[in-house]
Amino acid sequence: MMVMVPLLQGVTKLLVLPVYVLLFLGLWDPLWKKLFPYFMIKFSRLYHQQLHKEKQQLFSNLADFTGSSGSLSLLEIGVGAGANFQFYPFGCPVIGMDPNPNVEKYLLKNIAENQHLRFEGFILASGEDLHQVPDSSVDMMVGTLVLCYVADVRVVLKEVVRVLRPGGAFYFMEHVAADRSSWTYFWQQVYDPTWQHLGHGCSLIKETWKNLENENFSKLNLHHIISPIKWTPIRSHIIGYAIK
Ligand SMILES: C[S@@+](CC[C@H](N)C(=O)[O-])C[C@H]1O[C@@H](n2cnc3c(N)ncnc32)[C@H](O)[C@@H]1O
Repeated sequence: MMVMVPLLQGVTKLLVLPVYVLLFLGLWDPLWKKLFPYFMIKFSRLYHQQLHKEKQQLFSNLADFTGSSGSLSLLEIGVGAGANFQFYPFGCPVIGMDPNPNVEKYLLKNIAENQHLRFEGFILASGEDLHQVPDSSVDMMVGTLVLCYVADVRVVLKEVVRVLRPGGAFYFMEHVAADRSSWTYFWQQVYDPTWQHLGHGCSLIKETWKNLENENFSKLNLHHIISPIKWTPIRSHIIGYAIK
């Protein structure tokens, strides 16, 4: 069946030919960078509704990572429009980070709707380079639906470990590659090249749990779940937290 993958990838590319024409002309990436936050919010509405319970449960023990000063500092990488803000505890100081400046206006709207937390600023940066944030300075970090975007997950996780204080936690929820023997994985491979263009860099076939397992965390609480969203190539997820 594997010989079918390149063939079906070609068919998929033909179905979205205008995208490939814009790519060839060098117009797709700048255009999509501007429009992507708008479409990301529209398309992810159902996703957030369907995974609300899982996220609520994931973030239910955030307060356990309160620092010795009694305060809880939180840095969210790939913050997007701030879909996770509603789950953060009352008074929590939050810094958002994202490499796309076009998310900021959507983020501001969400900050206004989440007055229970203290928004301390937005850093325009990629997860691969958090040099603005000192070593061991943050109690908690969050990254949801972001490791699928980054060019090198290992580099980002090294930055996460650097920035977290000892005993601090990194919370994650990511869609990942399905079981390699499954049909889902077959179709993920077929769609992946086109999905990466349509999703502004998002990959369907990352085995992100392996990166988390291999990183230098003292404890890893990781679960594989299947999201309830049917008929999409992003049903396989990992969810949990890793402690430095
Ligand atoms: C699908 S959105 C997820 C937003 C939010 N975390 C959520 O769960 O709704 C992915 C976000 O990751 C950002 N992103 C892309 N590449 C990144 C990178 N290398 N480092 C950090 N964030 C990145 C994108 O700009 C986008 O805002």
